[in-house]
Amino acid sequence: MGLELMLPQPRASFRLDSVQLPLMFLLSSDTRVLGLIKFFDGLCEYKSQRDRTFVCKHTSHLNLLTSLYLSLNMSRLTLQSTITLSDGKKLPVLGFGALNQAETKDAIIEALKIGYRQIDGAQMYENEDKCGEAIRESGIPRENIFATSKIASSHRGHGYENVTKGVDESLEKWGLKYLDLFLIHDPLNKEKRLESYKALLDAQTAGKIKSVGVSNYGVKHLEEIKKAGYPLPVVNQIELHPFLQQHEIAAYCKVNNIIIQAYCPIIRGASHPKIDAVATKHKKEPAQVLIRWSLQKGYVPLPKSGTSSRILSNTNVFDFELSDEDIASIDELEQNKPCSWNPVNVD
Ligand SMILES: NC(=O)c1ccc[n+]([C@@H]2O[C@H](COP(=O)([O-])OP(=O)(O)OC[C@H]3O[C@@H](n4cnc5c(N)ncnc54)[C@H](OP(=O)(O)O)[C@@H]3O)[C@@H](O)[C@H]2O)c1
Repeated sequence: MGLELMLPQPRASFRLDSVQLPLMFLLSSDTRVLGLIKFFDGLCEYKSQRDRTFVCKHTSHLNLLTSLYLSLNMSRLTLQSTITLSDGKKLPVLGFGALNQAETKDAIIEALKIGYRQIDGAQMYENEDKCGEAIRESGIPRENIFATSKIASSHRGHGYENVTKGVDESLEKWGLKYLDLFLIHDPLNKEKRLESYKALLDAQTAGKIKSVGVSNYGVKHLEEIKKAGYPLPVVNQIELHPFLQQHEIAAYCKVNNIIIQAYCPIIRGASHPKIDAVATKHKKEPAQVLIRWSLQKGYVPLPKSGTSSRILSNTNVFDFELSDEDIASIDELEQNKPCSWNPVNVD
């Protein structure tokens, strides 16, 4: 059974600006529930003991509640679990990164065989054709796979026409009728990035892409979209790991119902004695601890590997749980230190 059955959102019934949230887990004997109830006091009105529902004071709190709910139910997460995006689409909780994949096709076929269902591609990775071939050769029905691509601003440029054309080119390369998620890869063109975003919204209306998102967007870039009156992206894909926790962007995304896809989640193979200590305690590898940390924070990590044993081991993160103390010791590792390009602060 996937997590989606346990998430509040699919079961929530919307009433104007509020949401009825069945809190089945209140029956749980978990002591953390007490803290949660205290927290809910501020966000929700308790409706009735009998039908165990709260009424959210504002829909934007849903994402927060979902994260809390997730953290309470982490041990029940599986590789098949999904998170419901703000547009209602379902995103698998663990993705497979396709950057720098010399043997992309084989690695993706292997990942799909193991059970990954989310492939993170991009025009800039120049392997969209291989991603598409892998999907077809895997024999897994298209509708069971979540395929992401990104517009390559650096060598194509932002702008309405370019992005519109770019989406069509991506579809052709992947050999697909639609992509599940299309992102603006970066905010690097101040003049044209809003146009680029509008082009993605129109591609969504045309049925070419299911969901619209952004990548490497800081708070000011997200605010720009809001001020323009466009719907906010459902996803912001940013570099995020213990050495670069992006607190301000993460907080903004949480209250605005934007799911964070965490790139470089295993810090490109780096570790730290504190991460190693947590790994030893749980008899896990540092990379598994890092992926689990990301999941327990409510992010959607996108580890990449071209090595068979690691493609598999990076999925063995659903049979253990980091304690609050483990998480706190890893949280202390913040160094505001990217290992990739992280252009979230550009103008
Ligand atoms: N939106 C953006 O701007 C952006 C930027 C960067 C990345 N991304 C996305 O995020 C994905 C992941 O990022 P990334 O590839 O840069 O970083 P990453 O996933 O943190 O690290 C990948 C590196 O770690 C190694 N590795 C994999 N599993 C390991 C394990 N269990 N133990 C130790 N090392 C391990 C890999 O080597 P092997 O392959 O040899 O196993 C590879 O060198 C990308 O593929 C891409 O989809 C997006």
